[in-house]
Amino acid sequence: MRWSARQRQMLQVMGLRLWSRAAPPQSSPAPAAASAPAPAPADGASIERLDWPALREAVTTCRACELHRTRRQPVFGVGHAQAHWMVVGEAPGEQEDLQGEPFVGAAGQLLDQMLAALALTRAEQGPPAQRVFIANTLKCRPPRNRNPQPDELRACEPFLQRQIALVRPRIILAMGRFAIQSLLQSSEPVGKLRGRVHRYQGVPLVVTYHPAYLLRSPAEKARAWDDLCLAAQVLEQEAAPAAR
Ligand code: URA
Repeated sequence: MRWSARQRQMLQVMGLRLWSRAAPPQSSPAPAAASAPAPAPADGASIERLDWPALREAVTTCRACELHRTRRQPVFGVGHAQAHWMVVGEAPGEQEDLQGEPFVGAAGQLLDQMLAALALTRAEQGPPAQRVFIANTLKCRPPRNRNPQPDELRACEPFLQRQIALVRPRIILAMGRFAIQSLLQSSEPVGKLRGRVHRYQGVPLVVTYHPAYLLRSPAEKARAWDDLCLAAQVLEQEAAPAAR
């Protein structure tokens, strides 16, 4: 990868190393393809047939769990509909609930900086290879940012599954515990799952720390950056045979 002066500067500011091609990453054993979700109050079978406008409408009007009573608005997701990258976070916080867009608070600014260092943005137009679609595991803010409850995760799961099916990303970055729980059906901590390539429905998936955690634990930023570099490397390698 070629680094612009701005990207170099940004990485320097963050105290991160430049990404360069390295030895091929080890794949983890064949993925536990996400096992069938438990029955959800939202009708997963009908959600899996929705197109973008219908899916957005379904999220907007969803009342499948109690969070609809306390949310200001659901937060659907943002980005290019055919982005090569997909970032999956946890749930909207206060700012996201107010503005209707994921990752717009302090954690979002850090996420944007890290993505920019790989020349990626959440812009809805432009070349799909340089675009990211950002979605949350939960579309509605839990009161006082408490942890998502199992029934809320179950209810929201079909929406995220459909978003992934529509975007058809080439790489997924799962940020934090609840994204991992939903996509890999695993309760292992991030530290145990990061550093290797998993699969979600055949799509390579890299696990990394949630940006809000990185703000509290800046020493882990270098590891998160390594994870982004791993994702970039996987993408490049998976694209290589098709390019020949
Ligand atoms: N944290 C998340 O996981 N998602 C957001 O949208 C904001 C903060």
